[in-house]
Amino acid sequence: MAQSIPENVVEEIRERTDLVDLVGEYLKLERRGKNMVGLCPFHNEKTPSFTVSPEKQLFHCFGCGASGNVFSFIMKMDNLSFPEAASVLARRGGVKIPEVKSSSPDKDDLKEKIYRINKLAARFYAYCLTSTDYGKKALEYLLKRGIKGDTIEQFMLGYAPADWTGFLKFAQKKGVSPDLMVKAGLVSPGKERGYYDRFRNRIMFPIFDISGKVAGFGGRLLIEGGKDGPKYLNSPETPVFDKGSMLYGLNLAREEIRREKKAVVMEGYTDVVTAFQAGIKNTVASLGTALTTTQARHLRSQADTVVTAYDSDLAGEAATWRGLTILQSTGCRVQVADLPEGSDPDSYIRAKGADSFLNIVNNANPLMEYRLSQLKKRYNLSSDKERVEYTEELMSILLSAVNDIEQNYYLKKAAEELNVDEEALRSELKKRRRGGRRYKDVGKEELSWQQKKDEIRPAEKILISLMLQNKELAQQSRNLLQLDYIDDLRVKEIVKAVWDQVAHGQRPEADKLMNRFEDQQIINLITEAVTDPSLQDLPPHIAKRMTGDCINQLYQVWVKRQQKELQKRIKELELQGLDEQIDELLRKHQHLLVRKDGSPYRLGEGGDFNG
Ligand code: CTP
Ligand code: MN
Repeated sequence: MAQSIPENVVEEIRERTDLVDLVGEYLKLERRGKNMVGLCPFHNEKTPSFTVSPEKQLFHCFGCGASGNVFSFIMKMDNLSFPEAASVLARRGGVKIPEVKSSSPDKDDLKEKIYRINKLAARFYAYCLTSTDYGKKALEYLLKRGIKGDTIEQFMLGYAPADWTGFLKFAQKKGVSPDLMVKAGLVSPGKERGYYDRFRNRIMFPIFDISGKVAGFGGRLLIEGGKDGPKYLNSPETPVFDKGSMLYGLNLAREEIRREKKAVVMEGYTDVVTAFQAGIKNTVASLGTALTTTQARHLRSQADTVVTAYDSDLAGEAATWRGLTILQSTGCRVQVADLPEGSDPDSYIRAKGADSFLNIVNNANPLMEYRLSQLKKRYNLSSDKERVEYTEELMSILLSAVNDIEQNYYLKKAAEELNVDEEALRSELKKRRRGGRRYKDVGKEELSWQQKKDEIRPAEKILISLMLQNKELAQQSRNLLQLDYIDDLRVKEIVKAVWDQVAHGQRPEADKLMNRFEDQQIINLITEAVTDPSLQDLPPHIAKRMTGDCINQLYQVWVKRQQKELQKRIKELELQGLDEQIDELLRKHQHLLVRKDGSPYRLGEGGDFNG
């Protein structure tokens, strides 16, 4: 790939790009001696260990080990290939990259092509909206909604014509093959023959990625209801569009978010557009779904505080809580703005103005507080039965606290409200915590093999982290691990779920996995597992060996326990003189001497399973 750009051009781009400036566009850097430091954008941390050397033009994170130069930084940050990174930096530094015909069209080539046709489409739709007769109705609709011309331009809003081949014909004339249009998700093959436009008679919202390229589209029906499909239709998954990792508006909002260290997350396109127009520019939308880990990481890398401003019915949903808990476990302070029922940011701002909306945002409650107050609304605490149910739910919410201080604060409050003894409540909470544990700063995690009561054993945690990395490691654990070896019930649930994914031919995916669980601690555990900086990007052979080591470790502890138990039983039987039963017992426990994969067991042996 790299060879398609001449060496001297790469060199020139490197010379024209200052790493400190570049990094500074993404995160806040402070001088420390010769170097600049900041919070690492590649893993979660609370004290800066991401270091940039202005002199060497290199970065290194002492927390997660990420390191490199201007190219690797932007590749990693914006998920770009080398040629993509080079062209972004070339544009930025005013360097011209000579056109080189690549002989083998590879995957990056396809991505580039899709970006190009997306841009073409965005321009086409924008033209249809602002400059054609058939786009008039759409334009009138937007203007009537209070969206101004400048805003339409800024967001590059458009209109997809109602006839079935408007874009198709336009793009064909430009020499784009229908096959590529299909790959970009802009047209679909007809049932019998031919192709037709995916987006018809819709207001078009181009969805830009962080670097300002059009990754996909959202299209809103001009008139709701009827037979024209869902109110919003989005691009399908394409090589450049993964809905779950995009945040609408992030390309425009990034600067302001970084300045304020605060982001406002809304639900939809129109919310962001209206907020922007009203001068509230640190806003993004999660595209109607609950936040995913990828989106959470994006937000975390720009903001300390994230305020969610969802409309009230969405705010109550379990999936929403899950998304916000995920966000919180990346180390963000999460607050929930309490919008009046039935309004979304768009309608609220239009009705009451930006200041009134900002007032709500600035008075947003911490996630925990908001959840507890929502919970209380659902129960009648003067009924004994409901009090019990209420307390039960209260516990599980308290368990998701960010730290002990937060937990204690709300526990005290709850005890007062319920008029019960604080200590009693605390010991109930402890009971529920059992094997589970709360979120802790991952960076501070010490990986000792020592086991403390109440804590998950490191081997169990490391194992799930590894299992979630790829199919091979998940499969390895499936072959060698037995659920009995695991103590913690939540880890057990996670392992079962990963095995289930693998059994269905899927690769282990944390985001999808989380949707299966309600338990906040399980969600925290999964988040921790996929963000633990010490376990990411391991060379495959090391990862494989670590997986083997973990399983072996768990296995050995299990066997020792079983043997102890066995010896105890034997002693009892000896005392009673029941020798026959001892033989019987030993026979029954033969399996203790054989591993899951059939190889014999030797106690005390360390190292890995695979020889
Ligand atoms: N959405 C989606 N697909 C759907 C419905 C909704 O992707 N079938 C997403 C869109 O990003 C949309 C957001 O969810 O903007 C919120 O949906 P909704 O509240 O229905 O629409 P609004 O944004 O409020 O749009 P409008 O004000 O025009 O009704
Ligand atoms: Mn709306």
